[in-house]
Formats: sequence, C-alpha cells, structure tokens
Amino acid sequence: MTLTTVPVSLGTRSYDIHIGRDALWGCADALRHVIGRGQAAIVADETVWAAHGQRLIDVVGDVPLITVPPGEASKNFEQYARVSEALLKAGVGRDGTVIAFGGGVVGDLAGFCASTLRRGSQFVQIPTTLLAQVDSSVGGKTAINAKAGKNLIGAFHQPALVITDLAFLDTLPERQMRAGYAEVVKYGLLGDADFYSWLDQNKDAVLARDDAALTHAIKISCEMKAEIVAEDETEKGRRALLNLGHTFGHALEAVCGYSDRLLHGEGVAAGMAMAYRYSAAHGLCATQHAQAVTQHLRATGLPAGPLDIEGLSTDANEQLALMYQDKKVEGGALTLILARDIGDAFVAKNIDPAPLRDFLAQELQS
Ligand code: GLY
Repeated sequence: MTLTTVPVSLGTRSYDIHIGRDALWGCADALRHVIGRGQAAIVADETVWAAHGQRLIDVVGDVPLITVPPGEASKNFEQYARVSEALLKAGVGRDGTVIAFGGGVVGDLAGFCASTLRRGSQFVQIPTTLLAQVDSSVGGKTAINAKAGKNLIGAFHQPALVITDLAFLDTLPERQMRAGYAEVVKYGLLGDADFYSWLDQNKDAVLARDDAALTHAIKISCEMKAEIVAEDETEKGRRALLNLGHTFGHALEAVCGYSDRLLHGEGVAAGMAMAYRYSAAHGLCATQHAQAVTQHLRATGLPAGPLDIEGLSTDANEQLALMYQDKKVEGGALTLILARDIGDAFVAKNIDPAPLRDFLAQELQS
C-alpha cells in the first residue's frame, strides 16, 4: 500500500498526516504505537460509526465508544459535558488517547474534550469527510459553538497523528464532497495559483473521487496548511489567511442556524467569492479574478454568494453585526482576508464598516 505522508513540524508536538486508500489499515502499527499502554476511547459520528466502525475495531480492538449525533448542533456545551464525563468514566487518563472518528464536528468536539480532559490528554484524528481531511483535522484548532457565534469556546490542541483514509469518502454524500472541495479551493486562492489552475482542470476528477486526483488535492492542501501552522500555530499572523471566506461565511451560517440549510463549506464558498468581489469593488484585485472565482465555485454546484442560498432571510445590518462576532476583531475593528490576485490573499485590518455595509446590501439585493 502506498501512503503519502505530510509532516507537521511543531517541535516536540510534531506529527504526521498519512493519506491514502485504506490508510487506516496501513497505519495500524503507528496508531497502536501512539496509543501505547494508556486507555483509548473512540468518539465517533453515529452515521460514520454505523458505516465504518468495524474497520476501526479491526485496528484498535474493542475500546470504549462514545457516539455523537451528526451535524453542527452537536458542537455544544451539552455534548461537550456528556462526552467528557464518558471519557472520564472510560478511564482515559493523561496518558490515554481520544480517537476522533468522523468529520469536522466530531474532530472539533472530541479535540476540545481531549484538550481539557485532566488538563490535556492525547488525541488522534481519523477524518472521514473531505472538509475534515483537508482542513479541520490538521493544525490543532478545537472548539464548540456558543450562542454568540461559531467556534467561540475552544483551544489549540494538536493531534498526535492524523490518518486520512480515502475509503471513507466512498460513502460521503455529493453535497458533503462539494462542501469539502470549497476548503480545497481555498488553498489555491490564498496562496498557490498553480494549484488553483490544476483544480480548474481537475475539479471533476476530485469531485468524482478519483484516488489520484483526491490524493494530490489533499496532499497539497495539507502541505500548505502544515507550512502555515508550523510558522504561526496560534494565529498571531499568517494563519489568519486560512480564514479566507470565513468571516462572510460564518455570518451566513449563523442566520441559517448552523444547520444543513447551509453547510460550513458552502458558507466558506459563498464567503470566498464575496471576499474576491469586495476586493475587486475596492480596487484591490481585478474584476476578472472575482468573476473567475464566482464561476469556478458555481460550476461545482457551490453557492457563490447570498443569493445562491435558498430561503436566506437576512439584511446587511444583521450580517454586519454577525461579522463583528469574529475572533479576528481587534480593538473593536474588523479584520478581513482579502485578495490581490488568484493565489495571493492578505490580512486586511481596520475594515471600515460603512462601505462594508453597502457591499453587503448590494450582495443581498435580488
Ligand atoms: N480552519 C482554519 C485554521 O485551521 O486555521
């Protein structure tokens, strides 16, 4: 079996991401080595467990299992308390391992539980959605949502190992594949024009789950993320680029109730196209780039703005207020990730709210 390995270099907290079809089986020894003699427990998405749980049991044996209902709503205080109590009951100590088995929701929730369990226990990410494989399983961001907004209660806590098995994508619904693809495009847009061009040519193969195309897309995405995280683990600077499209997108997700009315990746897609249009409207990048991004995303069936989201009910003032809940707000001023070109995003601080409100009103005009 050929596995592609991407190292994440963080000194004593360095780890590897192993990518490939049947990577779970191929990484059995590595996973058992990481678990060592401590108590392990699995935190799994209910649906993923029903479809693929036996494959994990075949590798780690019959370890305690805690399942979580699918969907963003599980990233809440109630599930955090329930999972943490269950991990304690299962006897997971500081030398123990929490194995997150599912998409971004389970990874974020289980990772946050691991970060606070006995002030920090080890965890392993086995991401089963494209979105989690290219983004949320890498880099150590863990969180749950609060009433005030998404991911507002969390911690940086790096995994000890990430196992990215393409076989889990075989059962992933098309819509979830597309949502994950949005995060893949993000890497091209923020810093790699060649990768974006490759995606322009190969997006159909990636979305059709061609193993070679998928492996390339996941590898390049993880390499870029690993490089940025190694330089700026706790987002004091450059890591903020990974939030391209997120501030616009989170505000749209909020009015959709963080539900499957708008998946996170769909919100990011709409948000990235908005960030390019906002950049073009302010003379920061060429209009043709904003149009190209909009077309690329729409061609894959992703929303490229608020008007592409069915049944959206909001206004510019509400969107602006939600954007001000962003974690990148500094001294009351908004920071946005904007673009100069395809493959060239930058951090823009002290955004003036008045022209932003006008832009949002224009975007929401039918
Ligand atoms: N998802 C953005 C980051 O990990 O920084």
